[in-house]
Amino acid sequence: MKPFFKILLSDKKTLATILLSVIAYGIFSSLALWSVSPLFSVLFGKENLLTEQTSIFNFNPKNLIAFLIEPSKSEGLFFRVSLLIISLFGLRNLFAFTSNFSLSLLQEKTSLKLRKQLFETLLQNPLSYFEAVSTGENISKITQDIERLMATVFQNFVILLKEPILVLAYFSVVLWISPKLTFLTFAVCGVSLVFIRFLTKTLKSQGKLGQEIFARITEIAKETFDGILLLKTFRSEKFFFSKFEKELQNYFKVRGKVISRQSLASPLSEFLGILALTFVLILGSEEVLVEKTISPDDFVVFLLGLFQLMSPLKKLSNANAFLQEGKGIAERIFTEVEQEAVKTKSPKFEKEIRFEKVNFTYPNGTKVFEDFDFSLQKGETKIFTGENGFGKTTLVKLMLGLLKSNSGKILVDGVSVEKFELGTYLELFAFVPQEVRLFDFTLAENLTFGKEINYAKVEKIFAILGLDKVLEKLPKDLETKGGELGNKFSGGERQKFAIARGLLREAEILVLDEPTTYLDEKTVESLLEFLRIENWFSTILVISHNEKFKEFS
Ligand SMILES: Nc1ncnc2c1ncn2[C@@H]1O[C@H](COP(=O)(O)OP(=O)(O)OP(=O)(O)O)[C@@H](O)[C@H]1O
Ligand SMILES: [Mg+2]
Repeated sequence: MKPFFKILLSDKKTLATILLSVIAYGIFSSLALWSVSPLFSVLFGKENLLTEQTSIFNFNPKNLIAFLIEPSKSEGLFFRVSLLIISLFGLRNLFAFTSNFSLSLLQEKTSLKLRKQLFETLLQNPLSYFEAVSTGENISKITQDIERLMATVFQNFVILLKEPILVLAYFSVVLWISPKLTFLTFAVCGVSLVFIRFLTKTLKSQGKLGQEIFARITEIAKETFDGILLLKTFRSEKFFFSKFEKELQNYFKVRGKVISRQSLASPLSEFLGILALTFVLILGSEEVLVEKTISPDDFVVFLLGLFQLMSPLKKLSNANAFLQEGKGIAERIFTEVEQEAVKTKSPKFEKEIRFEKVNFTYPNGTKVFEDFDFSLQKGETKIFTGENGFGKTTLVKLMLGLLKSNSGKILVDGVSVEKFELGTYLELFAFVPQEVRLFDFTLAENLTFGKEINYAKVEKIFAILGLDKVLEKLPKDLETKGGELGNKFSGGERQKFAIARGLLREAEILVLDEPTTYLDEKTVESLLEFLRIENWFSTILVISHNEKFKEFS
């Protein structure tokens, strides 16, 4: 919740505008209510009641009204009263506009900043975070969750800011007219508050559960569409549909509970409010008609004041319910962001990377390495082979500092990998992962991720990998978009682009994880030739089953 409020409170200018508008709105709401009183006095022919004290310095809202309308001059009095009512209500609504407008502006600004910050922070998380938290959940955080957080917490921040001031404004009016009646009314209203508290208690946990289920729904949908080819060929539409349907039903149940409580809070408090009002009418008529402690026009204002009080009080009671739900969401968004400790910058790679008695087990219990030793010397080209599931990709991830070993040492020139700031450490590597992935960017952007492109290098690599012919077919050369996940290219072409991406990176060590799965013999030959002759990288680690590579070392 803290980061959210930090962002919310950072825009001091807008906040000040909101606060001033809201206060002005409160003042004019209360004055507008008072201005109704002389209208009744005029209508009931009791304008002389207002002439007693008409000094503006004598603090009494009724005197202020009287000072403005000069009730002693009967000529045009009704006109002046009407004009006053119009002006006061006009001003009240003007400030309602300025406060609403600046509040909505603040909401949009906050939403923007929040998404930006959340995306940035999520990207900074170590790889282990993404192994634990699904893509669907992460997407849900920056889309759905923030949307909902805005709708719940923010709109209710509005209520919590505005409505108490309105309560204060109207409360001062009713209290002025009759402290006794006010006290009795609020004693009755207190009972309703206890009821509402009880209702909203469970909302927080339900809100959190709802978000979790929604994340699962998003994840299932994503996996379904990602794997559409498999799904179609295995004719398993029904299976995926039933998974989706099941979670959807769960979500419906949880939402049902939340909305039933949310919906109940408002009508219940209104009903209880009406009960209280009836009670007031009975007591009030006694004061007005029998004991004559309150004048009839003041009693009308008193009732109007109570009526006006009901809406902000109702909103405040709702705000609590929404806030509880919002808190659940905010906790989900913010608590899981892991902070990395401050680390030293990576040194130059001079000698070797060495694994000493490394143990590694995935969080799900899959043991991959036990007392594993390995070394990569500067200047060598190393080929590493092993059966499927041996741990080759895991080895690379450990070497790149993307995963942390459970015990043992991973040393770069004698210094533990964990000591380095991951960002600068990764500068040492040009990495071609086993999983080929192209993004829905232009080809140039896919190759360098926004960095400057070295056209001479591109030309050379494209010729070696046979991509030059592919490029000729593209309508806009390197500016052609790769299409979602590179669906527009063949499997081999996509792998070639992924290799080109790695080769274009200026780095000390080239790491290729199974780079030739989809490549034809001819391309493998020319890639080998290139790696043998050119020394763009001082050190090369290749993970491959390809026999050609085995000969290579
Ligand atoms: N994120 C993960 N969580 C749990 N277990 C994992 C995870 N990634 C890999 N594994 C398991 O760890 C073992 C090593 O996986 P790894 O990907 O390193 O194998 P590999 O040698 O690269 O295999 P391949 O030749 O198929 O690429 C496998 O048994 C695999 O099932
Ligand atoms: Mg692998």
